[in-house]
Order: sequence, then C-alpha cells, then structure tokens
Amino acid sequence: MQKIETNLAFLIVLILVAVSVGGMIEIFPLAFEGARTPAIETLKPLSALEVEGRDVYIREGCHVCHTQMVRPLRAETERYGHYSVAGEDVYEHPFLWGSKRTGPDLARVGGRYSDDWHRAHLRDPRSVVPQSNMPSYPWLFDAVLDGAVTARKLDVLRTLGVPYTDADIAGASDAVAGHTESEAIIAYLQGLGLDMADYAGGAR
Ligand code: HEC
Repeated sequence: MQKIETNLAFLIVLILVAVSVGGMIEIFPLAFEGARTPAIETLKPLSALEVEGRDVYIREGCHVCHTQMVRPLRAETERYGHYSVAGEDVYEHPFLWGSKRTGPDLARVGGRYSDDWHRAHLRDPRSVVPQSNMPSYPWLFDAVLDGAVTARKLDVLRTLGVPYTDADIAGASDAVAGHTESEAIIAYLQGLGLDMADYAGGAR
C-alpha cells in the first residue's frame, strides 16, 4: 500500500486503470445493446403543421421562458401532470426541456385551453391573464407558411430516426401551405403531452 501511495507515477497509472474500467462498464453496454431510449408505445411523430409550429416556437424563443420538462416532484405533478419520461422525447431534435421558467412548463399544455384561448393569448396575453408578462406575438397571425422546405424538414428528421413515411413527406408541403404561423404553433401547443396522456392512462 505504502509503495503505491509514495510512487506518484504508479498511483496515476492505477487511477487511470480504475477509471477506465469503470468507464467501460458504463459506456460499452450502451454502444452494443443498440440502446437508444425506446419510445413510449403511444408516441406519434409531429404532423407537418406541428413541425412548422415547433420551428416557430424555437424561432420566437418560447423555450427561453417555458420548460418542457416536468420533474418527478409532487408540486410539479400536481400542477402539470405526469412527470416527463425519456421515452416521450426520442423524436425531439433538438429537445426543448429548457431550464428557465418565467412562464409555466408547457410539456402537458395540449388540450388544456381552447384554440380560441391560445389565439387571444398569443395576440395579447394580458387579454386573458391580466398579470401576465409574456410578450404579444401579433405577427404570427399575418405570416403565412408556404411549405417550401417542410418536406425537407421531415426528411431530415427521418434520417435522425423519426418514423415518417414516404407519404408523410410527400404530403408535407401541401399540409402546411396557406396556414398561418399562429395556426401552426397552436397545433403544436395543442399536441403537447397528448402521447403521454395515452401512455399513462390519462394521468396528466
Ligand atoms: C418573457 C417570457 C415568455 C416568453 C418569451 C413566452 N412566454 Fe408564454 N408565458 C409566460 C408567462 C409569464 C406565462 C404565465 C402568464 C400567462 O398565462 O400569460 C406564460 C404562459 C403561457 C401559456 C399558458 C400556460 C399555462 O399552463 O397556463 C402558453 C400556452 C404560453 N405561454 C405559450 C408561449 C408561446 C407559444 C411562446 C412563444 C411564441 C411564449 N409563451 C413565450 C412567459 C413567456
């Protein structure tokens, strides 16, 4: 023992060996069992319109004030619903968990409000929540999507493992062309957490 502790070079080598073995035990199984986190059975890829809505959500920085990650703590599950699980995010590229909650978590917001509520809220948050400090997004109601790159977006997502069919991709541009950005983002918001509701037997 003393021999090891008084010989720095030897000690360093032994530490490296110990850390490497530990690292291999952690990392190797992940590389070989094909282990990507499996999707929850109820998970469906976003529709073409929802994909565009999600991109508007990212462009406008909604994720800077809103997380999409319910922690497994009583106070959170009581307020938002079932805590987030890895399997519901496997089609997320990039994920939007976030770390800052100026506004509430949105991971389970789908179906919580009507489309009318969302329209009023996006146009002028103070019209429905007087004390809100969320910005207004009136331009989303004027900007119309042309769908020019929607098919390409789905195609790229497919290379990342999202199971879009050829038909999904072929129909993507037509599915979004002519819709406003507000319609797209509301479609996206209204879908948030629904797959998980099916998975957890309605426990949201
Ligand atoms: C500056 C921070 C901020 C930004 C940016 C922001 N929000 Fe909010 N958001 C809030 C706050 C604060 C609330 C709570 C008050 C309210 O309902 O307006 C909120 C509430 C919400 C709610 C209601 C959630 C609930 O459970 O009641 C939705 C939906 C929402 N925001 C969507 C969005 C979308 C979509 C965007 C981007 C277009 C966005 N927010 C950008 C701060 C923000």
